[in-house]
Amino acid sequence: MPATLPVIESGDGCYMWDETGHRLLDGLAGLFATQIGHGRTELAEAAYYQMNRLGFFPLWGYGHPPGVELAARLAELAPGDLNRVYFTSGGSEAVESAWKLARQYFAAVGEPARHKVISRNLAYHGTSMGALSITGLASIRNAFEPLVPGAVKVAHTDEYRVGAQCGHDGECLCAAEEIERAIVREGPQTVAAVFLEPVQNSGGCYVPPDGYFQRVREICDDHGVLLVSDEVICGFGRLGHMFGADRFGYKPDMITMAKGLTSGYAPLGGVMISDQIAEPFIAAEQEFNHGFTFGGHPAAAAVALANIDIIEEEDLANRVLDNTAKFKAKLASLRDLPIVADLRGDGYFFALELDANAPSDPVKAQAHAAEVSKYLTRQMYALGLTCRAAARGAESVIQLSPPLIAGPEQFDEIVAAMRPALIDAMGEFAP
Ligand SMILES: Cc1ncc(COP(=O)(O)O)c(C=O)c1O
Repeated sequence: MPATLPVIESGDGCYMWDETGHRLLDGLAGLFATQIGHGRTELAEAAYYQMNRLGFFPLWGYGHPPGVELAARLAELAPGDLNRVYFTSGGSEAVESAWKLARQYFAAVGEPARHKVISRNLAYHGTSMGALSITGLASIRNAFEPLVPGAVKVAHTDEYRVGAQCGHDGECLCAAEEIERAIVREGPQTVAAVFLEPVQNSGGCYVPPDGYFQRVREICDDHGVLLVSDEVICGFGRLGHMFGADRFGYKPDMITMAKGLTSGYAPLGGVMISDQIAEPFIAAEQEFNHGFTFGGHPAAAAVALANIDIIEEEDLANRVLDNTAKFKAKLASLRDLPIVADLRGDGYFFALELDANAPSDPVKAQAHAAEVSKYLTRQMYALGLTCRAAARGAESVIQLSPPLIAGPEQFDEIVAAMRPALIDAMGEFAP
């Protein structure tokens, strides 16, 4: 890895080359985005065609063909009656918009006191002030306090995995019950929405226990609270389904999306909403008082349509389903290394949690984890692999999220680069 910033110059399929000609396997799909891989001319052509026809026009009081077509396509794909989409330029704006939509919705139906949101510890939901308030990562929040009031945090689905805190063995629904306790504590009449990722990214691919989302759905219904599925990472095939909500069999009231919607080829995000949420806006001919100039940009929408065509034509979601067990088994082959403490995830979205002799003091542990992550990132880059080695809690995790076109050949390559890097790290961080 160069001492300065690595500069990635080109890409093809699952691979990229930096400016020195070093070949890299893209183990993180850029940043959980390039579902269909790099260098797909179909997307470049879609943008070229659209820019020649109509380079830009806002979706603010107007429509344009790719925006209209994409909205209809997403309504077909989304679960239940999530039939409308509000376009943004990316994921933070989608989350921000979902919170504001929930607030305007409740104001419109005569419950203006419902303004609070609940999300999980460590969870990443973006960096604009509203989205950052929903984000549960102290490390990126602290410099910007005070944040937007009313964003409450609850347990994520890892805290109970060893039953240490709740006394249950293995998986249980304590983390879901904590959501209900938080709603009751805050006053149900003040809570607007719960924001959850199908599989939580930060902390390292926390998979929900069986029945978690069903219980959360029940809790939300009991208290009149909206359930927002933040699918900025988990959507568009990452978990072997178009949406993570389909993977875990729940129906959210809203879905936030970005990244894989265009495979990252153009900036685009959106919030899908149910008919119930749309109804008071339509009935009163009331606008959502919100908007972004580039939300639903015509070229980005055209790229998204071409991207969804490829995901469907190449049956990439089923490809992920077919290969998940192979990917997991390949990564599990690293478990003989004492530094590998846990392997978890789903689809093409896995994390290895590391035990690299962290000091017991939490502040020192955080710094140690950051050092381990930096070391591993450098080693794996030298061995031809980009992925995320991150210290988001006190633990180091390595996350893998390859393009959905990847298969067993790439899994072998990923592990072939990770093994020597992890062995080096064991030597470097031996007690
Ligand atoms: C779950 C989730 N929500 C929101 C965001 C924010 O998206 P963006 O970086 O496009 O603003 C991210 C980004 O990684 C994310 O993973």
